[in-house]
Amino acid sequence: MLTLNLADFSLEHFMACYWQQQPLVIRQGFQDFEDPINANDLAGLAMEEAVQSRLIFKKGDKWQAESGPFESYKRFGKTDWSLVVQAVNHYSPEVAELVKPFAFIPKWRFDDVMVSYATPGGGVGPHIDLYDVFICQGSGRRRWRVGDIGNHKQFAAHAALLHTEPFEAIIDVELLPGDILYIPPGFPHDGVTLESSLSFSVGFRAKSGCDMLSGLADHVIDKDLGKTLLADPKRPIAHQQGRIDTSDLTLIRANIQNLLDNEALMADFAGSYFSATKCALDLQALDDPLDTADMLAQLQDQPLIRTGGLRCFYVDATIDQGVCYVDGERYAFGADLAASLMALCDHDEITANLLAPALNHPEFARQLTDWVNAGYWYFND
Ligand code: SIN
Ligand code: CO
Repeated sequence: MLTLNLADFSLEHFMACYWQQQPLVIRQGFQDFEDPINANDLAGLAMEEAVQSRLIFKKGDKWQAESGPFESYKRFGKTDWSLVVQAVNHYSPEVAELVKPFAFIPKWRFDDVMVSYATPGGGVGPHIDLYDVFICQGSGRRRWRVGDIGNHKQFAAHAALLHTEPFEAIIDVELLPGDILYIPPGFPHDGVTLESSLSFSVGFRAKSGCDMLSGLADHVIDKDLGKTLLADPKRPIAHQQGRIDTSDLTLIRANIQNLLDNEALMADFAGSYFSATKCALDLQALDDPLDTADMLAQLQDQPLIRTGGLRCFYVDATIDQGVCYVDGERYAFGADLAASLMALCDHDEITANLLAPALNHPEFARQLTDWVNAGYWYFND
């Protein structure tokens, strides 16, 4: 397994001083690093309909962006373009391995591994992300400039490319294979390839209040919750017909706050919302579905592996009731299964031992079989 080497740093120091605060160059963060996918296979992935990809290049001074799938790359020539492919961890177990060294950050914060292949001179241009990202340099060399957080003006360099104005660099480095550049949200950056290069961006989501409120509204509507009406018995006589006064606003806020204060509702929302994927999973359903007895027998011999990108979580507020959340859905199996469900959500590979008590639970065993048949977890052979 790949391990993250912070040289003279501790993870505690990284989290206390850099995570969400400052960009950092981690020289040889991955020692003896080998590309988990090569440029040809990446280009092949970007030819598939289900895969989200973009090709970015310049025509004269004008930035251009085209979305995949691509039929051929011939017309782009040998320099000044870059191919960016989202959620490659969904398709390549080797790329999914890159997520494991970052297990010191919980999975609900993780987004995906974006892989970019760039020819000399290629890059996506100066921009700001809403994500924390660990840009791991694969083969080739790339120069990265990172500016300080601040009021950087952003503009559309192309309808699909939000760029930022030139910035003064606080980091200006050449990354070599195995080097890692960590960038928190809000820091402008620009990577220009010096020789054909692969970069692996392990990205962590930073959701906004707007994103989450919109997700919460969808959840409440979906589950038919939040139907309590505003109530104002014993209201004083109004003297100004046009006014919403301070106590009215308190009443309005309290009605909404009741939803936010509902621990079970918030747990179910957070579990479902954060376990949903942004990019579709590459589920390989079994041609010959297993029955539960066969699945349990096979699990005695070999572990089940979680398919790349599958998200499953438990929440402190509901795990005692045996609730977990898998790929956007809530599953309740009962209090006895809490420890097994925690193991299921905490481990990428799960053995019969780790799941032990749950395997005697018919409903869980049936659900796990359904998941295996649908491709959410798989046996290696
Ligand atoms: C890239 O790899 O080309 C872009 C990565 C980033 O700037 O976040
Ligand atoms: Co970026």
